Amino acid sequence: MTTRRVVLTRSAAVIGAASTGLLLPEIVRAQAARVRVGFMLPYTGTFAQLGVAIENGVRMALDEAGGKLGGREIDFFKVDDESNPAKGVENATRLVQRDKVDVLIGTVHSGVQMGIHKVARETGVLNLIPNAGVHVATRQQCAPNVFRTSFSNAQPTLALGKPMVERGHKRAVWITWNYAAGDEAFEGFEQSYTAAGGTIVKKLGLPFPNVEFQALLTEIAALKPDAVACFFAGGGAAKFLRDYAAAGLNRSIQLYGSGFLTEGVLEAAGGAAEGVITTMHYSDLLDTPRNKQFRLNYAKTFKLQPDVYAVQGYDTGLLLLQGAKAVGGDLSNKKALYAAMEGAVIDSPRGQWRMSKAHNPIQDIYLRQVKGKENRVIGVAAKAVEDPGTGCRMG
Ligand code: PHB
Repeated sequence: MTTRRVVLTRSAAVIGAASTGLLLPEIVRAQAARVRVGFMLPYTGTFAQLGVAIENGVRMALDEAGGKLGGREIDFFKVDDESNPAKGVENATRLVQRDKVDVLIGTVHSGVQMGIHKVARETGVLNLIPNAGVHVATRQQCAPNVFRTSFSNAQPTLALGKPMVERGHKRAVWITWNYAAGDEAFEGFEQSYTAAGGTIVKKLGLPFPNVEFQALLTEIAALKPDAVACFFAGGGAAKFLRDYAAAGLNRSIQLYGSGFLTEGVLEAAGGAAEGVITTMHYSDLLDTPRNKQFRLNYAKTFKLQPDVYAVQGYDTGLLLLQGAKAVGGDLSNKKALYAAMEGAVIDSPRGQWRMSKAHNPIQDIYLRQVKGKENRVIGVAAKAVEDPGTGCRMG
């Protein structure tokens, strides 16, 4: 009796499985396997907070969609890249070869990104860039399996020059870390500022992630420009804002920046950022239901206020969800997967955006000013800004 009941139960299960298509052999096994998602992000050092915000954003997007990708459960793998370019290839290889990830999400630092990029191009693994703006990734070395959900380094600063000159600030000093992100942010700044009629009095720099700003601030005080423009981010940005104010420069020389300067650091800056003007593809105070809902959910889930990095992570999750849905979870169907991601419209807290042909967001850049602990929108600095994608040939 018992035996018979067991048999009956089993055959009922088999019939049930067959009727839902679960017995189709090969595809079934591929579909049933869990998707392997790798995070290669900084969890220590000056960009640690950025890495955490990005991971939070990705997880939130996936959780809101039921925690699955195209119907498949997800396993996560993590590597702390320490924002160390020397270990970029090794860390990316670990995720691809050892952990066998289907998709590598990373990273923040442009130099480390070049290591990931090498591995992505050699292995064909899907790479979603949730921050690093290094130009070649979506220009000369663009690749079908590499998609950026953030920005190219020159995108924010291409919108910075004009508002500076419009405010009567025609002689500026530029200051940054000397590496790809700083150099390329300068490229956008130089182009937009000189086109608007501004003159760059001097270009100052220090090695990443050095925060000994004192000698350079003394030099700025002596130069007496109308304005200072810069690229800094993370812990280093908070320190720069505090040192700039402590030197008294915030009272006499208007500070501008690529918007990362004031992202996620306003608490740590403790008032030193008041009045700083920046350009960026996001603002905390974008008055849309989408942004408000996002901010509310994020604050509830993580007990933290989201910033641009959280938004970029969230959009990375949204892009992956759209791609996975289009291929029913079969991420090995690369042609269809990439086509879906190329055509995706991302309904982001920053506003709707889509991919350029070179796989970089086409997006509005906002003009913002710090008031209290917020980046207030004071205008749209430029609409639908597209990186030129110079030299990109897919294939
Ligand atoms: C970069 O290295 O590309 C980078 C890092 C931090 C940012 C923006 C860009 O906030």
